[in-house]
Amino acid sequence: MEDEYVETKKSGMSKPQLPDPCIVVIFGVSGDLTHRELIPSLYALNCKNLLPVPFAIIGFARRDWNDDTFRQDMNATMKIVNECGDEEWKRFSKNIFYVRGNFNDDPSASYKDLFEKIKKVQGEFSIPDNVLFHLATPPSDYGTIIKTLDAASLTKSETGWRRVIIEKPFGRDEISARELDKDIHKVFNEGQIFRVDHYLGKETVQNMLVFRFANPGFEPIWNRNYIDNVQITVAEDLGIGTRANFYEKTGIMRDMVQNHLLQLLSITALEPPVKFEADSLRAETVKVLNSICKIDVMKHVVLGQYDEGEINGEKVLPYRLEQNVDKESSTPTFAALRIKVDNWRWADVPFYLRTGKRLKEKQTEVTIQFKSTPHLMFPSSTNSGSDTNFIRFQLQPNEGIIYTFMAKQPGAELRMQPVNLKFQYNTTFGISELPSSYQWLLFDAMKGDQTLFLHADWIYKAWDIIDPVIKKWETKPWLKLPNYAPGSWGPEEARKLIESEGRQWNIV
Ligand code: BG6
Repeated sequence: MEDEYVETKKSGMSKPQLPDPCIVVIFGVSGDLTHRELIPSLYALNCKNLLPVPFAIIGFARRDWNDDTFRQDMNATMKIVNECGDEEWKRFSKNIFYVRGNFNDDPSASYKDLFEKIKKVQGEFSIPDNVLFHLATPPSDYGTIIKTLDAASLTKSETGWRRVIIEKPFGRDEISARELDKDIHKVFNEGQIFRVDHYLGKETVQNMLVFRFANPGFEPIWNRNYIDNVQITVAEDLGIGTRANFYEKTGIMRDMVQNHLLQLLSITALEPPVKFEADSLRAETVKVLNSICKIDVMKHVVLGQYDEGEINGEKVLPYRLEQNVDKESSTPTFAALRIKVDNWRWADVPFYLRTGKRLKEKQTEVTIQFKSTPHLMFPSSTNSGSDTNFIRFQLQPNEGIIYTFMAKQPGAELRMQPVNLKFQYNTTFGISELPSSYQWLLFDAMKGDQTLFLHADWIYKAWDIIDPVIKKWETKPWLKLPNYAPGSWGPEEARKLIESEGRQWNIV
């Protein structure tokens, strides 16, 4: 099987150190995240020989399954993404087990079963007492699960380690995030807590750091003297699917802006960290959020909800008619914001953020738009495009980095046009599909490396920035819904938001 470590081997770099042998216990194992990301990612790590040996997975959920039915269910998922063949999956699936229970069960009930299952599996496979709990459940269950794990004597070990992975959104606002963190800290210390924003595990997001800080040419121009504006677009063509119960309570601001978009902004705007490690990186990303000015909600925020329409030639329902959605729902599925980062580096450089469901296409990009040259010596008639330079970090699809600059067209007369210098993973590294971010996040959590996980201070500050927007909208939505057609780039107001400042969205 081709793997990305082929390149590592060629370049003489050593293979990464493997995590300690351990058991990963996944709560909410019958849910979407486990099927889509967690089991496929653990299996992909297995196929790359990046899992510890011995190793096992225990799933915990309400469904009436046993080890065999759980394996069969996971097998159906793996049929789609099986990286290294049926025989390998058969071998791997023998290390997968199941415990049936409700998250709010008494510690002496299903949590006791879990305790016993962990001991049994540890004994059978000679796995030391290292356990990573992954909470892939609705956020409202996090507190209960952690408290009950503790009451069932599952959170301490004399001889090994315990860690917990918690999915976003972490809380519903700053107050609830602080409460949740307080509850978690009653049981785990900071070094045991792994708060996920899967965007941090994306290859291209990590490459944004490498691009800026491993190349001497870009950092000197990464500031207000050269950059006109930054645009962050995270667009999806999909709707909310079957996630109404989650989405109705969450909406785009809690689901995407508070975490993924502010994370991309932090990575774009941060000062050079001292080291690529948790403390340095986290300190710098918190500083960025601390520099963000209070958002003028009525002037600099556009929210929206998708209507009925067509996308890629297919008729789609309006948000309000999606399964389990309130017919009068004012949950936003789109947001555009203009953010001001008020510090020495970024004063007067607007950051435009935009994200939504049912937009024209799946497209995630951070665009750095440079200022025009102070004096253009060529007549404007020679220019068949904008004379602005761009750096575009393409997170998906076609992951890579593009630098757009002006060039002379061949010919007797001087004619200029924008051209692209491109780095793309598939052409450079021969990888058509990048590893999912969950592979690296699970790998790092098993190793105890928190570099790509969030600190609570960052989360509190992110809530502090967006809480006023959510509060204002939830008190009285100021735009009539639904207000955008599927397959578009969102409500008209989002276009006006940027055009009123003499600029345009780079992706249209
Ligand atoms: C998740 C959100 O965190 O990110 C989803 O809950 C969203 O609503 C997803 O679809 C997008 O992730 P990606 O990696 O496909 O951009």
